[in-house]
Amino acid sequence: MQKVEFIIGSPRKRGNTAILAETLNKQLDKERFTSNFTFLYDFEIKACTDCRGCKSGNLTCIVEDEMQELNKRIDAADILVFGTPIYWFTPTAKMKSVLDRLRPYYGGDKLANKKMVILLPAGVGEKDCDLTIEMFKRMARSLKLEFIGTVTSKAYDIGDAKKDKKAMAAITELANQINKIIL
Ligand SMILES: Cc1cc2nc3c(=O)[nH]c(=O)nc-3n(C[C@H](O)[C@H](O)[C@H](O)COP(=O)(O)O)c2cc1C
Repeated sequence: MQKVEFIIGSPRKRGNTAILAETLNKQLDKERFTSNFTFLYDFEIKACTDCRGCKSGNLTCIVEDEMQELNKRIDAADILVFGTPIYWFTPTAKMKSVLDRLRPYYGGDKLANKKMVILLPAGVGEKDCDLTIEMFKRMARSLKLEFIGTVTSKAYDIGDAKKDKKAMAAITELANQINKIIL
C-alpha cells in the first residue's frame, strides 16, 4: 500500500481546504492507497529561527515541539498533499511555519521519490494562488519532491469548494492521475 499524507493548513477543519482534500481522498483507489489527515492547527509548531542546529550532528531539527511527529508522518508518506487556504496570496502562517521547518530535508535525499500535490482554496480563486503555486513548485524542486498537481478553488464561505464545479472536476482528474501512478 502507498501512503498519502494530507497536511491541512486551515484552522477550519470542515472548511474548503478539508472539502477539497476529502473529495480527493474519496476518489483514491483504496486497494492501493491508505490516507492519513494531519490538521496542522492541532499541532504545536514553533517558528524556525535559523538556529542552524540542523546543520550539524545528525542533521535534524533540534527544536522540541510536535514537528517531530509531523516528520514521522512525512517520512512515512509516498504522496504529500499540502492543502492551505490562501491568506494574502500565500499559505496560512501555520502552513508556512511547517514549510520553514522542512529546512533540514534540504540537501538530503529523504524526500526524493515522494510526490507533492497542492490544494488551494481562495476567495477570488486561481488568480490569487499564483505566488503560492510557484513557491510550492520551487520548494518541491529544492527538496527533490516530484510536483504532480494543483487544484485551486474559488471558495470563500465554508462549503463553497463543493459548489465549484471546475474544482470538483479538477479533483477527479487529479485522483485519476494519482490512481495511475505506479510507485
Ligand atoms: C487572513 C485572510 C486572508 C485572506 N486572503 C485572501 C487572499 O489574498 N486571496 C483570496 O482569494 N482569498 C483570501 N482569503 C479567503 C480564504 O482564502 C478563503 O475563505 C478560503 O476558502 C478559506 O479556506 P478554508 O475554508 O479551508 O479555511 C483570506 C482569508 C483570510 C482569513
